[in-house]
Amino acid sequence: MPVADSIYRETHLLPSILSADFSRLGEQIDEVMDAGISMIHFDVMDGHFVPNLTVGPAVLRSISPLVRAKGGAVSAHLMIEEPEKYAEDFIRAGADLISFHIEASIHPLHTVSAIREAGAGAGVALNPGTDVARLTELLPVVDFVLVMTVNPGFGGQELIAGVLEKIPTIRAGLRPEAAIEVDGGIGRDNIRSVVEAGGNWLVAGSAVFGAADPGSEARFLQDLARS
Ligand code: DX5
Ligand code: ZN
Repeated sequence: MPVADSIYRETHLLPSILSADFSRLGEQIDEVMDAGISMIHFDVMDGHFVPNLTVGPAVLRSISPLVRAKGGAVSAHLMIEEPEKYAEDFIRAGADLISFHIEASIHPLHTVSAIREAGAGAGVALNPGTDVARLTELLPVVDFVLVMTVNPGFGGQELIAGVLEKIPTIRAGLRPEAAIEVDGGIGRDNIRSVVEAGGNWLVAGSAVFGAADPGSEARFLQDLARS
């Protein structure tokens, strides 16, 4: 379902369920959403594009109604090869926003249109080692860019601060109403620097679900980002 246009310019903390307790996934989503979170980050890994495997559309189909029932949105981050082949499956399973990696896409402009036509917001993701120049043709057309601040594949890594320097160049090429999602290693110590660099959707996995009380930690981080 397309999200409200206003959400792209708002600052949000997106808990990444990669670090959640999967035996209590629904409860953990409720905990963070009841604490004031309105976007959930859903990491998809295929064991090829990244050296790890996670979950697919079936899990998304189970959790997206929970997120929607509380008025929220799911941002699915596809760390997979041939993203154009699977994007629609994730949209049908309830993804409101889809990001795919520029490094994995042969016809990225086509992928962006296909995602939009299927009814979701379209974003392109960039690895820490990939030059922003790869995005030149995409920046004016995407709804958001996902800037990876760790090498994709695992939660709990340290944020690579130098990557934040890419954000102003990305912002300059984007439509003013587009969002910048920043993903990897975000926590209490660095969330303000990510916002100051220009990120407005802040993903946090281990910082939220590794905390004793994920709900209050998510709210704390979101408040800090908005302060
Ligand atoms: C990493 C994933 C991230 C991950 C972030 O490949 O894309 O979304 O869950 O986890 P933390 O916040 O622990 O770095
Ligand atoms: Zn992610």
